[in-house]
Amino acid sequence: MTVPGAAAHDARPDWPYPRWIAHRGAGRLAPENTLAAFRLGASFGYRMFECDVRLSADEASFLLHDDSLDRTTDGVGPAGARRWAELAGLDAGRWHSPAHAGEPLPTLERIVQFCLGQGCALNVELKPGPGTEYRTGQVVARQLRQSWTAAALPPLLSSFSTAALEGARAAAAALPRGLLLDALVDGWLQRARRLDCVAVICEHRLCNERSVRDARDAGFRVLAYTVNEPAEAERLLGLGVDGLITDRVDLFPPQDGQR
Ligand code: G3P
Ligand code: MG
Repeated sequence: MTVPGAAAHDARPDWPYPRWIAHRGAGRLAPENTLAAFRLGASFGYRMFECDVRLSADEASFLLHDDSLDRTTDGVGPAGARRWAELAGLDAGRWHSPAHAGEPLPTLERIVQFCLGQGCALNVELKPGPGTEYRTGQVVARQLRQSWTAAALPPLLSSFSTAALEGARAAAAALPRGLLLDALVDGWLQRARRLDCVAVICEHRLCNERSVRDARDAGFRVLAYTVNEPAEAERLLGLGVDGLITDRVDLFPPQDGQR
């Protein structure tokens, strides 16, 4: 698998992304999926971020993990039922800590500009609300195709949803895709192959010698989420996993040993 623009950025021409990836921006020490979390991750030296992206009712792309607003904002109910003008006024930081009160939900565009400005790579997890799977993939991938400059490493799109990845492929086939897996169900490699993915992104306990070898033999890179324990990170690095997605930007120096 060759990622466009890779050779200029890394000695590993077929996998140019940093080894360490901050999860939900770096969303444990700061409110997840906010610009504050990205700034925090960057301050710890992180150069790649995972984030969760969904659509508002009027199809604005923005960052939020849950279908519902309740856990991480001062809003209530399904996020996908609200127009962006309403969502933009919510507080997505106070739930985390008083210091982050007033932190807004970020648009995907704001995060793209941050990453481009900082020279950071991005893994956009497509998190469609119910019934919007294909459309979410399509809209987000189209937007990224237009706003991500050709000089930078392309964003890696990922999802647990087959339909979301199909939508992304239809809108921007050249953007690399990763299939998220929380179980190695029958046909997992065939599913990744059918979606023309470049990587499988596995719940970390799914990674073992056999699964990593099978994925590699089938031509996929292997990433693992969410890796927060040093012994587990060591085990995964020993298996040759290509990327580790972590909440613990304070614990794992991203330049430690391997980028
Ligand atoms: O993309 C990896 C990971 O973020 C998937 O799980 O629930 O944290 O979005 P979740
Ligand atoms: Mg995620």
